[in-house]
Amino acid sequence: PNQSEANLRSPICCIMGHVDTGKTKLLDCIRGTNVQEGEAGGITQQIGATYFPAENIRERTKELKADAKLKVPGLLVIDTPGHESFTNLRSRGSGLCDIAILVVDIMHGLKPQTIESLNLLKMRNTKFIVALNKVDRLYGWKACRNAPIVKTMKQQSKDVQHEFNRRLTDIITQFKEQGLNTELYYKNKEMGETFSIVPTSAISGEGIPDLLLLLVQWTQKTMVDKLMYRNEVQCTVLEVKVVEGHGTTIDVVLVNGVLHEGDQIVGTYLHHKEIKAAQGIKITAQGLEHAIAGTSLYVVGSHDDLEDIKESAMEDVQSLLSRIDKSGEGVCVQASTLGSLEALLEFLKSPAVSIPVSVISIGPVHKKDVMKASVMLEKKREFATILAFDVKVTPEARELADKAGVKIFIADIIYHLFDQFKAYIDNLKE
Ligand code: GTP
Ligand code: NA
Ligand code: MG
Repeated sequence: PNQSEANLRSPICCIMGHVDTGKTKLLDCIRGTNVQEGEAGGITQQIGATYFPAENIRERTKELKADAKLKVPGLLVIDTPGHESFTNLRSRGSGLCDIAILVVDIMHGLKPQTIESLNLLKMRNTKFIVALNKVDRLYGWKACRNAPIVKTMKQQSKDVQHEFNRRLTDIITQFKEQGLNTELYYKNKEMGETFSIVPTSAISGEGIPDLLLLLVQWTQKTMVDKLMYRNEVQCTVLEVKVVEGHGTTIDVVLVNGVLHEGDQIVGTYLHHKEIKAAQGIKITAQGLEHAIAGTSLYVVGSHDDLEDIKESAMEDVQSLLSRIDKSGEGVCVQASTLGSLEALLEFLKSPAVSIPVSVISIGPVHKKDVMKASVMLEKKREFATILAFDVKVTPEARELADKAGVKIFIADIIYHLFDQFKAYIDNLKE
């Protein structure tokens, strides 16, 4: 192999689609884990990155007997939420990726967030593969655990095959209505012009080998320039979150370059072994509470001017801060991650909800947060409220809130907070 082939970074693949199409379950199926069942209401509320090393991909795809060699060191897959509140997270995920998996439920076809995801991908000119998921739900489906799809299809009855083809044809038509040509991947003669569809089941694993192989083959064949490994660090903050016992941590995606133990990132230090792109990394350090999701991480080289780098870093931050409205009277909102805080703010701002926000915060609710909320008691009583999303409330904070008359609503699903708050307001009015 020539030098360039030998030194590719791992492609970054983002998994997108409408709520409950099986994005997280597909990842679970590839990983052999069960994250999805641990999620509140089964809804993904953050983006998470998972790295699949080439050995795993080789193992999962061996039944396909592909002779093509794996040139990429692995695949980094980023999960995104499908619920409509999380447009910003979908957007952040799609902005990072080299390729995407667009998941469509074979029983439901294209839905609003499928189309929103499609538009994000079109806008960025990102290529994608359609995972036509939940094929096992076709009536009479015979499971062929983790088998390639062509082999699986041959095992199915004529009725199942007929039902599959009928639904497939409908969905291809729906894509056409969005201006896109799609075709079953093994019939697709013009990859790139026509987008490939891979039928999958995240429950019984059919089609997973095909999906993995196609992702790897397509990226290493058509994206060599983009995937060329470079020394220059390119790194994006995915999520800022408070982890009990660790303080603020950041989840970052290292898109290119290598991070070394002791590298100085702006304002702080990394304590980590050397890591080569692409990878998802959790960083624990001091001062991270000021990190902003969606921004770049800068590594300070020995010849760099720290002030210049700080200035570049601030440009990213300014645009994000301007999205957070802190003026006037309103409730306090508190969330576990900056991403979920953004989603919550977006939701509260929507016309149907329209709840003003005066204070925002990340992490558990402490006494100081209750004190901030109590300021509203004299201005507008109903706003002396903390909407706490996916965070704990300390006993001291709870005690103070009860004494002071500050309301704390806790939920681990965003719109449940609204239901509770609305019931409270309606009650006050009576
Ligand atoms: P959000 O993150 O909330 O947008 O959902 P998601 O797209 O990640 O879907 P999730 O993985 O949470 O799956 C939703 C539901 O569909 C769960 O009950 C899964 O068990 C189920 N499911 C997912 N994939 C399959 C599949 O291939 N077959 C069947 N029968 N059920 C599936
Ligand atoms: Na879900
Ligand atoms: Mg999910």
